[in-house]
Amino acid sequence: MESPLNVVTRPFQSTDLSEIVKINRRCLPENYPESFFLYVYSSFPAGFRLADVDGKIIAYLMSRIEVGTSVFSKFRRVKKGHVISIAVLPEYQRRGIAKRLLNEVFEKMAVAGATEVFLEVRVSNYPAIALYEKLGLEKAKVLKKYYCDDESAYLMARKFS
Ligand code: ACO
Ligand code: ZN
Repeated sequence: MESPLNVVTRPFQSTDLSEIVKINRRCLPENYPESFFLYVYSSFPAGFRLADVDGKIIAYLMSRIEVGTSVFSKFRRVKKGHVISIAVLPEYQRRGIAKRLLNEVFEKMAVAGATEVFLEVRVSNYPAIALYEKLGLEKAKVLKKYYCDDESAYLMARKFS
């Protein structure tokens, strides 16, 4: 039997930046300059969390709070949590780490006054879609040719409480 991993989750700090950038480049085609990670972090520090195993960073979740039209009603202006990017290194996947980071950040978003959460995901990204559905998000829209390579996205969203 595999021995259980000692996974610790904690807030991002600026000294983690280079490791987060590496994980982002390894796991996702959507990459950003370092300045973008810091900009998002500064707007909602509680929404940027990571997971480590014995001091090695293995996953992150970056999010922010936006004010705008509700995904669920175009007549309501709300605070919305926006999950911008999440990734878990391949060798640590399917251990509940993404689910844990998302649940923790949803809690922070709700405390900050968000009444819903949304994100975009490639229509071909079955693992991520399955994860988000497990956490109660639903496909709300298709965003045609959302990505640089013309792939479409699902806009997925969930209300809090
Ligand atoms: N196949 C089917 N279902 C899956 C899969 C999969 N490969 N991965 C997760 N799920 C579902 C399952 O229901 C799973 O529960 P179970 O293991 O008990 O069956 C549940 O989600 C929880 O999974 P976790 O173990 O918490 O997910 P993990 O830590 O493996 O991370 C993630 C999932 C983030 C999608 C990971 O596969 C990854 O980093 N992929 C590459 C990067 C990526 O695609 N990120 C999302 C892009 S969209 C965005 O960032 C907004
Ligand atoms: Zn987005």
